[in-house]
Amino acid sequence: MVSIGVGILGGGTVGGALATRLLTEQDAIAAKSGLTLELRHLAVRDPGKPRPYVFPPNLMTTVPEEVVDDPEVDLVVELMGGLEPAAGLVMRALQAGKPVVTANKELMATTGAELLEEAGRRGVSLLFEAAVGGAIPIIRPLSESLAGERITEVLGIVNGTTNFILTRMCQQATTFREALAEAQSLGYAETDPTADVSGADAAAKAAILASLAFGTWVGRDMVHTEGIESLDVADIGFAADLGYVPKLLAIASETGTGIAVRVHPTLVPVGHPLASVSGSQNAIYLRGPGVDELLFAGPGAGGGPTATAVLGDIIEVARELLAGAPAPPRVRLAPAGLRPVAELETSWYLRLEVVDRAGVLARIAGAFGDLGVSIESMVQIGRGETATLIFVTHPSPESGSRRAIEALSGLDVVRQVAAAIRVLIA
Ligand code: NAP
Ligand code: HSE
Repeated sequence: MVSIGVGILGGGTVGGALATRLLTEQDAIAAKSGLTLELRHLAVRDPGKPRPYVFPPNLMTTVPEEVVDDPEVDLVVELMGGLEPAAGLVMRALQAGKPVVTANKELMATTGAELLEEAGRRGVSLLFEAAVGGAIPIIRPLSESLAGERITEVLGIVNGTTNFILTRMCQQATTFREALAEAQSLGYAETDPTADVSGADAAAKAAILASLAFGTWVGRDMVHTEGIESLDVADIGFAADLGYVPKLLAIASETGTGIAVRVHPTLVPVGHPLASVSGSQNAIYLRGPGVDELLFAGPGAGGGPTATAVLGDIIEVARELLAGAPAPPRVRLAPAGLRPVAELETSWYLRLEVVDRAGVLARIAGAFGDLGVSIESMVQIGRGETATLIFVTHPSPESGSRRAIEALSGLDVVRQVAAAIRVLIA
């Protein structure tokens, strides 16, 4: 059986799990795929660091260029994360005519267009199935199986850490901090969890999904992004009473006059397929006239699940290498016409802390009405001198809703607009 030499850049959560499987499951992989995958080189920063599996010292290096340049390495797997030196190393491998597999969403959402162009020029593959949704097959379905579908909307729960945190806050009323610490101990969160909780990780994945779904280049910096840091457990309870579940959603939609891509906390009606996706699970829900609705769901983070997706890409690339033909470009990216979020129709959950006396409701309703925002429902919880008012608004232009929120904050009867969360327009 022909063997293919694999070099891995990074031996952490994902790289460590992948390297372990290449070393311990070589026969099983060969029996199933017909390929012998040989781990030839593994780059880490600190070879002395304790790891769950002890790698043979002769495979390890602290100089990642040695992995890329090793003539025994036929394909390079980038699992270091971050932009540099990863981007330079991936470019170096492609320019040397070596195919690359990566799980790095930040890399693909920032320099993906450039790297894919280089891969196309060299006739080699650059695959990134694990960059979105961990083990869930979504990149290949979007770029191949659904290449002929006119996708109109993609909704994704694409960050396991935040979904885990929100699920814990919903089901056990755990605080944000406690749930985050648990997500970190389970290996879902990035080393620095800021990217998870601020929505930046989901925004990179939203950019990749939008690019593939609409065949257009959407970069990470083009995605409107809001995180979950300021969500209050009290609103999660009130929203549950109204029949909603909070999710950090990546939303990419074709609006008729351009594509809109955004990431923000969203209240999802309990009956929606995404509402029951809990814990660190990820899910991507698609709509299109041909397929109607599709749901892809599964483990979206963690070393084992992510390594499975990487391994699938490695096997595909290894088959291409054995076939000896240049890899076909799988993705075509035209320039995007993006629509700003302010121009979209959005619906809101608003919690107001107000003075509890006659005429207050009329003034608040007037502020909504003056800016063309229609109220779908309202709940009042009296607390003596003050009251909590919870409104859900009908869909209306986001710019009007924002002006209404500003106007409400300025009313002397409103002590505070304590929460403003978008509601999914299903
Ligand atoms: P990680 O645990 O932080 O591992 C990074 C690895 O890269 C470590 O082994 C580190 O060495 C090595 N490294 C970093 N900089 C290096 C340098 N300059 N030279 C040599 N080695 C270097 O990260 P991870 O969680 O495995 O994530 C890897 C990639 O997969 C990222 O792009 C991430 O976004 C993506 N991803 C992760 C998950 C997940 O669940 N973790 C899921 C999907 C995608 P040391 O071990 O010596 O520190
Ligand atoms: N930190 C990421 C998450 C890992 O929580 O989903 C997968 O990219």
